[in-house]
Amino acid sequence: MEIGDWKSTAGMTEVYRQARHFGLEPNIAELEAFGFTVIDPERTGAPPGFAQRLLDAVQRVSRQEDESAVDLNKHADKPAFGRQLFHLLARDPVFVEAAMNPVVRTMGSYMLGVSMRLFSMVAFIKEGAARPTHMHTDSVGVPTPLPFYGSVCNVSWILSDYTEQNGTLCMVPGSHRYCRHPTEFEQPRFMGGPMDDAMAVPVLAKPGSLAVFTGNTWHGTYPKTTDSTRIHIATAFCRNYVNPAENYDDLPDAVVAEHGPEFARLIGRKAWQGYRAEGPKLENMALVRPAYQSVYG
Ligand SMILES: [Fe+2]
Repeated sequence: MEIGDWKSTAGMTEVYRQARHFGLEPNIAELEAFGFTVIDPERTGAPPGFAQRLLDAVQRVSRQEDESAVDLNKHADKPAFGRQLFHLLARDPVFVEAAMNPVVRTMGSYMLGVSMRLFSMVAFIKEGAARPTHMHTDSVGVPTPLPFYGSVCNVSWILSDYTEQNGTLCMVPGSHRYCRHPTEFEQPRFMGGPMDDAMAVPVLAKPGSLAVFTGNTWHGTYPKTTDSTRIHIATAFCRNYVNPAENYDDLPDAVVAEHGPEFARLIGRKAWQGYRAEGPKLENMALVRPAYQSVYG
């Protein structure tokens, strides 16, 4: 059917039209049914060679960064095994391109609304064999019961061949409807828990794909048994009232301006929260209000 300028779904109508334009309706259906989906490299809308540029940038940053300077790396029992590179957005313009990719933002906006914010942008690197990451949701700090909709979502750029042997992500299909975090009794056997391994399924994806899942979806990773390097970049978004994990105040105003007003809004430069005695800026509050409110109230 034709999607009109329907006021009752203002925001969603534009996002849905974009989804249709990019051929993402099957992915949205998979996301609704199973809580995750994979967008093939040909449909990410990225220019040729983009995934290689992203991979080169991650590897450049990893060479420049002192691994031991990252606080999380000092903990043997950290939640995600392997090396993580945080705050990528400020480190190379290609990461801005990755976050601003129209397909990435369409999937994020579908799940969280057009007022969504960037939550974090983190590279996950595993070189050689690696233990699995335990089953969890990305709704960090949200007490059970989770709302039936996600407060956050994950749109990950897959930059190497993601197979079970290479320690790909695993998902429990349909778990986004459970509205709770997994318990220790629901960890699969390959993670050392008692849950039937068949409940978890591998996310199979080629380099340049996007793996997309909701903040409620139960996921973890398979143990990595190969010598190859496994890399993906998790672009996480959140609903506009959630406190983002990363702070982008250090991006120079001139750099932010180069990428346009939507980028500025995504990284919180138009947030209405955080005011002092001067009170909130009405124009910034208007950015997170649904259209019907400006029409009727
Ligand atoms: Fe996660």
